[in-house]
Amino acid sequence: MAAGLQSFALQAGRAMARGTGSTLIDEDGNTYIDFIAGIAVGSIGHCHPHYVESLKRQVERLTFGSFSTEVRARFLELLGSITPEGLGRIQLFSGGAEAVEAALRLAKAATKKREVLGFWGGFHGKTGGVLGLLGSDFKHQLGPFLPGQYLSPYADCYRCPLKLRYPDCGIACAEYVRDVIKFQTGGDIAAIIVEPMQGTAGNVIPPEGFLRAIQSVARDHGALLICDEMITGFGRTGLMWGAEHDGVVPDVVTMGKGMGGGFPISGVASTDALTSAKPWSNPSASSSSYGGNPLAAAAGLASLEIILGENLVKNSARVGAAMLARLETMKERFRTVGEVRGRGLMLGIELVRDRVTKQPVAKDVTQDLYQECLRRGLVSMTYSPTIRINPPLVISEETALEGLGLLEESLAAVLPRHGLD
Ligand SMILES: Cc1ncc(COP(=O)(O)O)c(C=O)c1O
Repeated sequence: MAAGLQSFALQAGRAMARGTGSTLIDEDGNTYIDFIAGIAVGSIGHCHPHYVESLKRQVERLTFGSFSTEVRARFLELLGSITPEGLGRIQLFSGGAEAVEAALRLAKAATKKREVLGFWGGFHGKTGGVLGLLGSDFKHQLGPFLPGQYLSPYADCYRCPLKLRYPDCGIACAEYVRDVIKFQTGGDIAAIIVEPMQGTAGNVIPPEGFLRAIQSVARDHGALLICDEMITGFGRTGLMWGAEHDGVVPDVVTMGKGMGGGFPISGVASTDALTSAKPWSNPSASSSSYGGNPLAAAAGLASLEIILGENLVKNSARVGAAMLARLETMKERFRTVGEVRGRGLMLGIELVRDRVTKQPVAKDVTQDLYQECLRRGLVSMTYSPTIRINPPLVISEETALEGLGLLEESLAAVLPRHGLD
């Protein structure tokens, strides 16, 4: 295996043998509560019986090719019944970046414009067509990027990029987008792409009204609003789509991760009118080798049946609220816990040296914390000072609170070792 594997796997130094629900079991027989879920991939948990059965059945019938299949038709019908209003036309892919790139091509085809605007802190994958839209130092040494890609500050209120305070700021960052378009672009914006809540940046929850304001900027400039719901989709935030929290129906939605319950499947959903734009709609133009193949469709169908059948969106809202309340008590107990936040099962914690300067704790603290959590039976992204918690949507309140108990014990053990409290 080449270097560069995801940090949580690299630093864990453990080989996983099995999984069931929201529990992982390693090759030595140790069990872990899973607060990572493959970074918000495992919506339905590990090895759900209906998922296992559906994939077994499909693998015996037909596995590849893009001919019409019954399983794909059933999947699309069910998916189309839950996509935001009017966005019932869907193309399927295998990975997130691939879907985002397809959405950008769609925006260019539909608007006949060429430029795209994203946000600081944004993450949309690692392929050449999206690298320029990443709003972090992840892209350092990976340039030059595609021309015509611009970034504007996101509503990260804990560390406001404009050094303002909500609500007095009047969500100034959303208005700032107009200035970026005016002063930096060629006035040819095809799309604004935004995560309704930023995942990779640390499960950042923007204030109410931010997304609506961005939508209005997009409309004023004749640009499409693409909501990248790769992490926020399929109930992660306590509603089916992250954009729903702000009452926004975007022009295009990109989706993946939790969509396939672990199987690599992603998609772009938009309207009949937009998806018929050429060249996007030409034969072979918007598709790919694996997109929506029978096995992927079976995985997507089974996942969605479980999400709907077991009311996992409601579970996400309910258990997430209980977890957030528990996190608040940790903020009261530890001064190092500078902020806790969350919507549904998308939760974040800021570990800081100082609550006023908000300087993040050093790496050696978080690496120690990650190992301590593992020893106590919890896998959670605690190796970073901005901790992201995204358990499977099937997690019970009891297990979720047990996991937070392990996190609290780990903080209590680790912080004093580093002179923190
Ligand atoms: C919002 C968002 N979009 C796109 C991607 C890229 O997905 P993939 O890793 O499947 O290419 C990610 C991955 O974390 C993501 O969080």
